[in-house]
Amino acid sequence: MIRSFMIYLSKASWARKIVSNWKLARRVASRFIAGETTEEALKVVKELNEKGINVTFDHLGENVASEEGANVATDEIIEILEEIEKSGFRAGVSIKLSQLGLALDRSIAENNLRRVLNKAKSVNNFVRIDMEDSPYTEATLDLFYQMMGEGFSGYTGIVVQAYLYRSMDDVKKLMTIGAPVRICKGAYKEPHEIAFPDKEDVDKSFDQITRILIEGAIEAGTPVLSDDGKFPPIPAIATHDEERIAYAKRVINELNFPLNGLEFQMLNGIRRDLQEQLVAEGYPVRIYVPYGTEWYPYFMRRLAERPANLWFFISNFFRN
Ligand code: FDA
Repeated sequence: MIRSFMIYLSKASWARKIVSNWKLARRVASRFIAGETTEEALKVVKELNEKGINVTFDHLGENVASEEGANVATDEIIEILEEIEKSGFRAGVSIKLSQLGLALDRSIAENNLRRVLNKAKSVNNFVRIDMEDSPYTEATLDLFYQMMGEGFSGYTGIVVQAYLYRSMDDVKKLMTIGAPVRICKGAYKEPHEIAFPDKEDVDKSFDQITRILIEGAIEAGTPVLSDDGKFPPIPAIATHDEERIAYAKRVINELNFPLNGLEFQMLNGIRRDLQEQLVAEGYPVRIYVPYGTEWYPYFMRRLAERPANLWFFISNFFRN
């Protein structure tokens, strides 16, 4: 109930206006968001890199409402790719296709995605296409396959959400082309007709997909993390759930898979202890670092995931 309401609020423009201008909300959001400017984000990335942690930048923005806005968002993503090249950080970027214009017209998103991937190719970096809510699933996969066919394979990867019934089939198909896949549970509110309503089914699906990704990586010759930390191996296991991580480790052991043949991914500001523990154990870890002024929907999804975050927010409100 609370989760659904928070996800509804994440898309409500009236709520966005109120919360975005609220000082307390900004303060609470700063746990998850690296800052509003590129400089602030680069500082966080430097600190993470110094701890042996790789990064994927997310210049926040989604559901862009005009072609001009989509073009500007694309320019900003291209700039961060240039920034990474200059600074030499162990970092790539994550993008959302609705940020590049998919909510407006497929061709706008397609052209902008091509611009981003051309830049990634020229600076030798990797761009992960995040998966958004179900109205975008088919078009996102479709554009990903198209770009893989246009010579960008190796420079881009995709995300699969364990909560969708279709994901098992999607991931098997993705493995036939050796696509780099990030598996996550899924952050949106989806109807029961297309997504598992129960957490235990989502967890089971997550584990099954983890195994398929590891087996797929073996089929693809077991690629490992690149020396510069930019190119992730095929399986990217994105979760803070210790049981899911333990399951992935068990499969690695069972299949005699190298530690750097996959990477664990987590969100900035969540389970820093676990991030550092995995690094100490010798696993590649990549942190998703969001930044920019459009932090509202991302922040609301993080509140939705964990009621404790919401109570923290509310109790601070009454204390102020
Ligand atoms: P789960 O929600 O079961 O949480 C397990 C534990 O993690 C909790 O008990 C708590 O300790 C901690 N935790 C989780 N969320 C927290 C929070 N918000 N605040 C504090 N603690 C928290 N989704 C999507 O739909 N499309 C995408 O492209 C992506 N991309 C993506 C990239 C990366 C790197 C990550 C880590 C996640 C995503 N996600 C995503 C989000 C994902 O779908 C999911 O919503 C969150 O990761 C939370 O799920 P967990 O797997 O952590 O499990």
